[in-house]
Amino acid sequence: MIHIDYTNMMAPGVRGGITEAEWKAAQSLFDKARETFAKRQDAGELGFLELPGNDELHTESVDFAKRTRGRFDDVVVLGIGGSALGPIALRTALRKPQWNLLDAGDRDLRPRLHVLDNLDPVTVGGLLERVVKLERTLFIVTSKSGGTAETMAQYLVIRDAVEKHRLSAKDHIVFVTDPQKGALRLLARQDAIPALEIPPNVGGRFSVLSPVGVLPAALIGIDTGALLEGAADMARRCEAGTLTKNPAGTFATLQFLADSKYGKHVHVLMPYSDALRDMAAWFVQLWAESLGKARDGGGSAHVGPTPLAALGATDQHSQVQLFMEGPEDKTVTFIAAPARDDVEIPALHPKVSELSYLGGHKLGEVLDIERRATAGALATRGRPNMTIELDAVDAAHVGGLLMLFEIATIYAGALYDVNPLDQPGVELGKEFTYAMMGRGGFDDARKEWDRLPKPDPRYRL
Ligand code: PA5
Repeated sequence: MIHIDYTNMMAPGVRGGITEAEWKAAQSLFDKARETFAKRQDAGELGFLELPGNDELHTESVDFAKRTRGRFDDVVVLGIGGSALGPIALRTALRKPQWNLLDAGDRDLRPRLHVLDNLDPVTVGGLLERVVKLERTLFIVTSKSGGTAETMAQYLVIRDAVEKHRLSAKDHIVFVTDPQKGALRLLARQDAIPALEIPPNVGGRFSVLSPVGVLPAALIGIDTGALLEGAADMARRCEAGTLTKNPAGTFATLQFLADSKYGKHVHVLMPYSDALRDMAAWFVQLWAESLGKARDGGGSAHVGPTPLAALGATDQHSQVQLFMEGPEDKTVTFIAAPARDDVEIPALHPKVSELSYLGGHKLGEVLDIERRATAGALATRGRPNMTIELDAVDAAHVGGLLMLFEIATIYAGALYDVNPLDQPGVELGKEFTYAMMGRGGFDDARKEWDRLPKPDPRYRL
């Protein structure tokens, strides 16, 4: 089960918290958000909600993993943004720690999973030259649009490397892309490269439960059935019309109220679990790219919270100072989860007071106490915070958590009055890149680029 405890978001217990009256009134805000949600759903825009029930799509990934079992020591995902963060989060959450460093036996003879989410040549070159053996490697090229520059550049590099090793591209490359559109689909048809589909109405950052996340997860032995069931259960919980019974509605509405009424523009997600650390990075992209928008095509209405990832207890020695005493512009959402395998702390040095109180406790227990202590300390200083509690870090709970945040993002889009499904703000940078690379059809972008101020020697040192 996934619970949310938002006691520390509420006044008067927490100075700057949401009042009981505001929270009661929020039901009508949420009713409107649900109407917008329903309209989007009826218009077929929320394809991610259907992924847990899409058995055919799920089976394609599972069958691919079964068919190729034992053939690969390494799987490399080429992708960026929504095509990369989901697979990384799933591997970290649901496989043993340091998965890629384990030997094959400890990995149950499943492959390592690398995700190249950038085109830094040092990383890409290093992986190809020193980490993987091409004849035992599968490359998953993931791109919804099938044409993202970074991913296409990586693809060209690996395709060339595969062919130079006299390996067959269709045995070592699989595409995950739109069923109809884009260069990858074209190449799949032309070169008979296997290709799994991302449904047209599932956008990049909402695609983790499609083959984008599910194929790599199945290949490394994650229970993808349980992942999808957990997501389906959460989607059902989030159908509740009563705000206080709807986990995604509660999360989104609390964050929105804290931001719009109390200036809490920064939304921190802080798991106290190494397994969930990459969930925070995944959430950051989801929240930022979905909600940071110019309303009315720009003008003065620029809205959106700034998400921030943190990790407990590590960031207690880094960012928590800022959260406690810096600007009062943050909410902190903790994620609490029991440690899978706890480790007892030996009772050594009974006479050394700095150490003796630790002996006999467990590491996971201390971690959890530190989380509660930090939450209490923040509340004491009038810093609103809430906790999402997971009964376990397993596939079902992780599926539930992913779905919770995805649905919350759609509600938040409605509350902020923006379209959470698009990302027009990233286009201009892409167009400038294409123009500088000499890609055809970007003459206007080239002209706009040429009009920009040139580096001024007075402002350069
Ligand atoms: O959420 C999004 O839509 C983006 O972050 C995309 O995932 C990212 O730009 C990569 O796009 P694509 O999957 O088309 O290569």
